[in-house]
Amino acid sequence: MLEGGAPTDVVANPLRQGLAEERVPEPAAMVIFGASGDLAHRKLLPALYSLTRDRLLPARFAIIGFARRAMTDEAFRDELRAACAEHARRRPLDNDLWAAFAANIFYQQGSYDDPASFAALKTRLEGIERTLGLPGNRVFYLATPPSSFAAVIRGLGHANLAPPPPPPEAARPVPPPPFARVIIEKPFGTDLTTARALNRDIHATLNERQIYRIDHYLGKETVQNLLVFRFANGIFEPVWNNHFVDHVQITGAESIGVEARGGYFEQAGSLRDMVQNHLLQVVSLFAMEPPIAFDPDAVRDEKLKVLKALRHIPESDFDRQVVRAQYAPGSIAGRMVRGYRDEPNVSPDSTTETFVALKVFIDSWRWAGVPFYLRSGKRLPKRVTEIAVYFKEAPHLLFGRRGESIRPNVLSIRIQPDEGIALNFGSKLPGPSMEIAPVSMEFRYGSSFGVEPPEAYERLLLDCLLGDGTLFTRADEVEASWAWVSRLHQRWADDTAAGRGSLATYAAGTWGPAAADRLMAADGRAWRMP
Ligand code: NDP
Ligand code: BG6
Repeated sequence: MLEGGAPTDVVANPLRQGLAEERVPEPAAMVIFGASGDLAHRKLLPALYSLTRDRLLPARFAIIGFARRAMTDEAFRDELRAACAEHARRRPLDNDLWAAFAANIFYQQGSYDDPASFAALKTRLEGIERTLGLPGNRVFYLATPPSSFAAVIRGLGHANLAPPPPPPEAARPVPPPPFARVIIEKPFGTDLTTARALNRDIHATLNERQIYRIDHYLGKETVQNLLVFRFANGIFEPVWNNHFVDHVQITGAESIGVEARGGYFEQAGSLRDMVQNHLLQVVSLFAMEPPIAFDPDAVRDEKLKVLKALRHIPESDFDRQVVRAQYAPGSIAGRMVRGYRDEPNVSPDSTTETFVALKVFIDSWRWAGVPFYLRSGKRLPKRVTEIAVYFKEAPHLLFGRRGESIRPNVLSIRIQPDEGIALNFGSKLPGPSMEIAPVSMEFRYGSSFGVEPPEAYERLLLDCLLGDGTLFTRADEVEASWAWVSRLHQRWADDTAAGRGSLATYAAGTWGPAAADRLMAADGRAWRMP
């Protein structure tokens, strides 16, 4: 029974039908490093609970939390219950289900820099596996500060907790040996050099096939739907190119500020925090060529080509193609909010950008000459992530003066919230004359499927358990996106050193600085109001 007495309902999710999770993961243990942290509480455990409730996890499954502070299993379970009650998609909690779920949650205290902690973890893990009859399949989730990623993986290696799988060409033992996979949180490095170094460190212990680098945008239903939209429908692909597309706008807007993450954000800024990963992943899925198969390497090979084809912004065009800005005090939804420099753990003279707008080209046959305008910012008027594809105008307009009201066709793909897709086109107004008005055809996930899309982390955790890396980023993808982004950072650093370049400001609650509008206006275009 549910808390509050409502009946238990385990509903098949139509959004999941036909997807990989028709396979059931093998019994396994998941070790979460950083289990007492914010991400584990707000995202990971709620996602695992929702998966349990949707019967998508194996019947035999254990969770072992690992962190520094001392805690009993019971205290850890109590903490997680409160977190799941607040954050799980499937709420209110089902008491019976929670009891069964929590019985297989354990806590192990330790430190990432202490080999004895990994030896103790191994002993504990093996004991739990024996008791629960688990075959030794393991997923290690690194929800730790990024500075600890390499140390944790070294610790796993020294304790022989994550042995690499046999090479694909080797004879397959029957039954297959247990798997050991490692999920790594973001940020993966802070620039090209650090990302390469981290890949090197990780590869000293793990095989690339064991590594699952998280970009939670890839777990969003609507981001995955880009693949279905493009490659399961015959009518869009023929117009998905520079013959028909005038330009593309991608917006990742948030109304929240940096909240409690000022210390992290000071070192990151919007370009690292949102563009290097989430927005460039969206660009790569949007722009890639059809893969030869829906398998991890085929999809990621094509995405990689897009990232490698991003044109480096020439020195001479830098100021016309790149805008960075920081939010000043302002008002959002009628509430006054402080400026970035007044946020906790932010320097009063910080030059970290909380907004970035870019004009980007992809040097490929398909996209030659098509500008991609990207923008992302915090403290914008609302939370919305959207791709808007502007198509070219009809080559010859027949309607004289009445044609002046014709707008370009825009296909908008709403990633969140109000997930859906809309196509705008001109239609004749009812009446005796040929008056034309813009109208829209819309698809909405909520009304079409009657369910909310699952949380991104649900999908990603499940895919890792299933051994499907399609929605995780590969080493070469991460390095390619850093190679592009690091040049922008380098230019900003050079500007700062030379006393050049300016950081614009925008009032919180507005759509960014005037410079972002000028970037578009210079091309005779304007940002779409999402
Ligand atoms: P927190 O600071 O909230 O949690 C960090 C966790 O790591 C705590 O459990 C802490 O344990 C543990 N820890 C830190 N140092 C050690 C150590 N030396 N030995 C053992 N345990 C240690 O971080 P978040 O949960 O916010 O972030 C975790 C990761 O997820 C980061 O990589 C972050 O970039 C990423 N991420 C987080 C997001 C979020 O919304 N929070 C969003 C996107 C990515 P203890 O508390 O016991 O000290
Ligand atoms: C995270 C960033 O990766 O993505 C955050 O670190 C940002 O700063 C978040 O708020 C946005 O995610 P979503 O799913 O809310 O769009």
